[in-house]
Amino acid sequence: MGARLAENHCESAIRDCPGTCGTDAPVATERANRTQRGVATSDLIVSAHVGENAELFAQLMGLHIPAGARVADVTFAAGKFWKSIAPGTYELHASDLVLSTKSREPLVEYHDGVDCRELPYADGSMDCVVLDPPYMEGFFRRLTSQQAGSGTYSAFRRAYSTGTGEQRPDQPKWHDAVTDLYLRAGIEAHRVLRRGGHVVVKCQDEVSANKQRLTHIEIVTAYEDLGFYCKDVFVLVRRNKPGVSRLVKQVHARKNHSYFLVFQLPVGKAKMPVSVREAKTLAETIARERKTTKPVASKDSSAVKEA
Ligand SMILES: C[S@@+](CC[C@H](N)C(=O)[O-])C[C@H]1O[C@@H](n2cnc3c(N)ncnc32)[C@H](O)[C@@H]1O
Repeated sequence: MGARLAENHCESAIRDCPGTCGTDAPVATERANRTQRGVATSDLIVSAHVGENAELFAQLMGLHIPAGARVADVTFAAGKFWKSIAPGTYELHASDLVLSTKSREPLVEYHDGVDCRELPYADGSMDCVVLDPPYMEGFFRRLTSQQAGSGTYSAFRRAYSTGTGEQRPDQPKWHDAVTDLYLRAGIEAHRVLRRGGHVVVKCQDEVSANKQRLTHIEIVTAYEDLGFYCKDVFVLVRRNKPGVSRLVKQVHARKNHSYFLVFQLPVGKAKMPVSVREAKTLAETIARERKTTKPVASKDSSAVKEA
């Protein structure tokens, strides 16, 4: 299918772009010749969007995934993400634990009953994987009315359960169950993607057990550890105002936004930027340095006292 990566160049500002414009750097030959190309425009795909999943999904796919690419949407459900993309734009493989789509599109290949942690695709066979698992904890509460999604994610619960709807004791719980699925699905996406391939991840942060859990950051750091480069981040803000039925005291800001994260597998041996992970080591180094310099400091202060 010859799917090549779409490259955008910041051609309107070849000399001056500090690299923050959001477009890729110009290639060396262009820089050497100081070729000025392109047009001034504000018609750009931006990182924050107010509206629906399908609108933003179509934009980010258009930006990052070239037409004709082989795409596996591994949590396809009803395929709502694809509503604004013309059928046939991609070679789409749609799978889910339970496909809930009513009609079957002839240009899509469907695989029902497939766990995104164990895909039926060969190693390196996909250009893109799309992942949108349930992103709220609370799938294992006893009462359906108290379960995340009011119990609508029964397939997810079953996949993690003993068969009775109870969670298997060896499985992570609550929010950790959510991140565990993202991580395992990420490992499987890594296997089926070709080098240079992308994984598009939908997620939302959540307050779980009264603790703020920044799911998108947890996913970014975990996927970086798997060897993915976090190439883009999109924030989706919902149009309608969220409400709660019984508010006693508000503790955290009510979330009205979610994320699309775009990761890429590096092609060659290029060094990928990764998030800073040095704070603990740095704090320990500083503490050690302070410890070794402390006696000197106390000697000085007693000297000052005596004087
Ligand atoms: C938020 S919905 C996805 C919605 C979908 N993106 C759409 O546009 O319609 C989450 C889906 O993940 C599926 N799911 C949950 N756990 C899964 C797993 N381990 N493997 C595959 N699909 C899973 C659920 O069955 C559910 O359909």
